[in-house]
Parts: sequence; structure tokens; C-alpha cells
Amino acid sequence: MAPDLRTRLGNVELPNPILTASGCASSGRELAQFVDVSKIGAIVTKSVMLAPRAGRPTPRMAETSSGMLNSIGLQGPGIDAFLQRDLPWLLSRGARAVVSIAGSTVDEYAELAARLSDAAGVTALEVNISCPNVEHRGQVFACDPVDAGAVIEAVRARTRYDVPVFAKLSPDVTDIVAIARACVAAGADGLSMINTLLGMVIDTDAVRPALAGMTGGLSGPAIRPVAVRCVWQVKQALPDVPIIGMGGVMTGRDALELMLAGASMVSVGTAVFHDPSACVRILRELDDELARRGVERLSEVIGLAHEMRAAGRSMGTVK
Ligand SMILES: Cc1cc2nc3c(=O)[nH]c(=O)nc-3n(C[C@H](O)[C@H](O)[C@H](O)COP(=O)(O)O)c2cc1C
Repeated sequence: MAPDLRTRLGNVELPNPILTASGCASSGRELAQFVDVSKIGAIVTKSVMLAPRAGRPTPRMAETSSGMLNSIGLQGPGIDAFLQRDLPWLLSRGARAVVSIAGSTVDEYAELAARLSDAAGVTALEVNISCPNVEHRGQVFACDPVDAGAVIEAVRARTRYDVPVFAKLSPDVTDIVAIARACVAAGADGLSMINTLLGMVIDTDAVRPALAGMTGGLSGPAIRPVAVRCVWQVKQALPDVPIIGMGGVMTGRDALELMLAGASMVSVGTAVFHDPSACVRILRELDDELARRGVERLSEVIGLAHEMRAAGRSMGTVK
């Protein structure tokens, strides 16, 4: 019998745990040429801001060993166009929409939450706090527990009670558990992790930084062990808080690894750039990985590596 892949996004049930990662599938339209977007657990949109933005100057992508570096910035049409065009399109396709929001001040986040609360068809909010806080000398919200908590508190207060709020954390901190605790204390219903790691590439022929913006976010398989570590540490500290895990997931087995560490859902980002049907393929592979292990329900494997370690046990090799 096929394993039961249903999972919970706060109080919302998803038919399966594989999501797109914010910024890697825009608002789902491009993917629709390749896959039925309603078959994906949820589409996590590119982070939307209040006003339209052009993003950062080019070149803004560079390949790295087992990953890529991007400095796209938060390019997008702004909340008005998103509400008029993108959200209704996702609904018309039967997709579940997790809307990622980003801002430069706490008030901007709060206003975005209020605008989205009035809209139909928002399954959840994912709050991208990896943005500079213009009211705090450009310090990234996600790197300070007080700033991170202030954003989440304001968003939770302006979001309809039945829409879960997930805080998306940055791995570029000394103690991710402290940031996770601050977000949960401020009202986050769940946590998404990890956003990209800050990196830099120098073109050794041109002898200058490869990206116009100099630094960029590192993603792809290179960061997966960092994602596994972050999910593990936060699950250990906050075992009841649902986690959307992401970072370098290319296969169903990679998704399973993040789930064993504690993620109840997994987002797929960089993999989508060279395989637009990656989410559906990874879902099929995950199903297969679970069936081969005799798992009946996805919930059995979420955080299982913690229990096995505590019990001093391990499973045999899976053929
Ligand atoms: C080109 C690109 C754009 C991204 N844009 C966003 C974004 O708008 N908001 C956000 O929260 N994360 C954004 N991310 C981060 C991803 O959602 C994800 O957290 C990260 O890439 C790790 O997953 P991956 O290794 O599967 O790509 C972006 C990543 C990439 C590669």
C-alpha cells in the first residue's frame, strides 16, 4: 500500500509534504508548463514586498561547486499586482499558496500581512526575515532575536487567526535556536529553514567579484548538511513546532534526510532550475523511499533520527 503522505502546515492539512522554495518558482506559472501545480504540496511564492522592485544589478548568478550563488534581490511586482494577478491564478489552478512576504520595516511586514489577510486563498504566510532592517542600521532581522520577534509579533497580530505564520530563518547566525525561540514566543506557528548562506565568488580571470552585488546567497547541495544541522538543533529544542526544511534537496532521499532530522515538510529550490518537474519527481522518490522501508505514514519518520539516537538504535541497510 502507498504510504500516507499527508502532513500539517499548522492547522492546515497538505496532501503531501513537498513544496517549492520561495524565489525558485516565482508564483508557479512557469512550472505549470511542466507539472500540474495542484499536485505539489504547496507553492511557496517569491517573497512579495509592498512596492514593485527591480532587484539587484547583473551579473547576479554564479555557479559554485555543488551549488550556486545568487544576488537577485527581492525583484517582484509588489503586493497589488500579486493580489490581482498571481494569487487568483494559483487558486484557479487548484494550488495551495504559501505567500512569502518581505519588508524593510516592521510596519511594512504588518501591512503586507493585513493585505493578505483580506484576500481569499492564502494557505499560510512564510515571513522572509533575511532582509535588512532600515530602522536598525541595516541589520538583518533574522540575525537578531528581538528584531525577528518584532516582525513575527506584528505579522501574527495582523493575520487572520486561521492562517498559519511561518518564520523563515537564516543559517548565518551563531545560535539559530535562540532566533527560533524568539519567533515562536512572538507567535510563529512554525519555522522554515534554511535561507541561503552569504557567500562570494571572485572571477580569477577578470580579477573581480563575479556578482555585481559582490556577495550573494549560496544554495544547492553544498548547503544541505547545514540545513540538516539547523533542522536537527531546532527540532531538539522545540519538538512540537512544525518545520519546513530546505537546502540542497535534489532527491527523495535528501527530503527524507531533512524529515528524519525533524522537518514535516520540505521545500525544493535550486533543483527546480535544472529540473522544473523536480517537486513531482522528488515526491515520487520520497514515496518510494518510504514504501521500501515499510513506512505507512509520513508522520512516523518526522524526527525519527532523534528517537533512534536517544534509544541507541539504528535501522538496517535499505535495499
Ligand atoms: C534564485 C533564488 C532566489 C531566492 N529568492 C528567495 C526569496 O525571494 N525569498 C526567500 O525567502 N528565499 C529565497 N531564496 C532561498 C530559497 O527559498 C531557499 O531557502 C534556499 O535556496 C535553499 O534551498 P535550495 O538549496 O533548495 O535552493 C532564493 C533562492 C534562490 C536560489
